[in-house]
Amino acid sequence: MREIQLAAKIMVLDANELNNEVDRILIDKAKEAVNLSYSPYSKFKVGCALYLSNGEYVLGANQENASYPICLCAEGVTLSTAKTLYPEASILKMAIVVPSVDSPVSPCGLCRQSIKEYENRQESNIEIFLIGREEIYHFKGISTILPLAFDGTKLSL
Ligand code: THU
Repeated sequence: MREIQLAAKIMVLDANELNNEVDRILIDKAKEAVNLSYSPYSKFKVGCALYLSNGEYVLGANQENASYPICLCAEGVTLSTAKTLYPEASILKMAIVVPSVDSPVSPCGLCRQSIKEYENRQESNIEIFLIGREEIYHFKGISTILPLAFDGTKLSL
């Protein structure tokens, strides 16, 4: 028998420790994106913003439906919008905000798997910021919170 240890490195920052302009703008855009949330059923507003290799920022938010399983998460909405508007650009950074919760909120399992697919597609990581009221969690790519991920390389096509 042997053991595999999985380690995750997450940097915890104060807002005033953000060291570049793009990161500050990205986080402001994610906060702004909360206003795009359509969440009359859960009342749980999630805002997301992406920064792309062409310099564009793309905003999105969760979109709910009376038929609950059809609800779309903010992350998926924003990723698919970005890749549809700018198919040639890579997604460099992602910020997620849930203003009703004090601590940073992590993307759900489905969103993690979806982010993983976008990383694989563009063959580079997406830097992620989870924005809390006081603190920001920052990590270098989705594998930090999705270890041992399933991906298309496991499919024999
Ligand atoms: N939600 C997101 O937008 N992202 C997540 O990662 C988790 C959940 C949304 C979906 C639904 O509109 C509401 O939050 C409650 O689950």
